[in-house]
Amino acid sequence: MAKRVLVTGASGLLGRECLKAFADDPEWTSLGLAFSRSSGGLKKVNLTDPAETAAAVREFKPSVILHSAAERRPDVVEKDPEKTNKINVESTENLCQLASELGAYVIFISTDYVFDGTKPPYKPGDPTCPLNKYGQSKADGEKVVLKANPDNIVFRVPVLYGEVERLDESAVTILFSKVKDTSKPAEMNHCERRYPTFCADLGRAIKVLANSRAKDPTLTGEFHWSGDEMLTKYDMAVIMAELFGLPTSHIVADTKPAVGVPRPFDCHLDCGRMDALGVVKRTPFREGIKSCLEKYFP
Ligand SMILES: NC(=O)c1ccc[n+]([C@@H]2O[C@H](COP(=O)([O-])OP(=O)(O)OC[C@H]3O[C@@H](n4cnc5c(N)ncnc54)[C@H](OP(=O)(O)O)[C@@H]3O)[C@@H](O)[C@H]2O)c1
Repeated sequence: MAKRVLVTGASGLLGRECLKAFADDPEWTSLGLAFSRSSGGLKKVNLTDPAETAAAVREFKPSVILHSAAERRPDVVEKDPEKTNKINVESTENLCQLASELGAYVIFISTDYVFDGTKPPYKPGDPTCPLNKYGQSKADGEKVVLKANPDNIVFRVPVLYGEVERLDESAVTILFSKVKDTSKPAEMNHCERRYPTFCADLGRAIKVLANSRAKDPTLTGEFHWSGDEMLTKYDMAVIMAELFGLPTSHIVADTKPAVGVPRPFDCHLDCGRMDALGVVKRTPFREGIKSCLEKYFP
């Protein structure tokens, strides 16, 4: 079967790196979809419009749909779960139906927030138990994906960082705004454990999975992938300051659980299934984050 990948959310933090990984490979033909930021060859499709989506998918005829588009900001989801449901669940169901019609399969990008963070490390197949509406919407999306076709793939990842269009595009790079402003104290959470993951590594990892699946059709179901350094937001902020020769005295560790929408304590993902495919490259946090932040300093 021809290797044709349709990447949704290709204007987003992760989608753009996934598209890059496939577009750089002559074995693959790729098309990226976007919505409000459709430019530079990305096709504009509102995924919450089933007819518009169907026309785009049927025209491209993918062998794989890499579904990265989502509403992933927990605070936004909490305020408007119905709107979130349309993109995180209903559009997913529609894409799965279209994939089945074309004999393709779906890789659904999901999150470690489907777990409650009390019993890490989490293996593929472990029961989900989301603490907030965002995690619930992604868990609902996962169910739809595996019910539509057990040969589909659910691919869970933790907090992401990468090349950003603005510092606030990632929950990691946004910390740098406070780190740079040494004139006032910067309170940083030093409670919840995170495993920041570099999107460029992830794009390559997902391509390895798609290539492995082309050879081995039993590679279905749930997969996990994650950076391997456990860091709190405070740890990340201190590293950023050190990398750019900034003082750290204004960075204040807040050891209480984060306020607002409940977030899991430690969702460390067991990545053994991906590691077994030979996906081992994990860019050290210091190296990855430096490359992302350089253009924002001074
Ligand atoms: N970021 C993280 O830390 C993180 C952590 C764990 C899991 N994830 C998961 O990883 C995936 C990618 O996240 P991300 O950080 O790359 O997200 P993002 O940067 O917020 O990008 C979201 C993408 O979804 C697209 N989109 C939203 N509504 C759409 C609609 N109605 N029609 C078509 N496209 C629509 C956006 O397109 P436009 O911008 O062009 O409108 C954008 O490309 C998501 O499934 C998320 O749940 C992310």
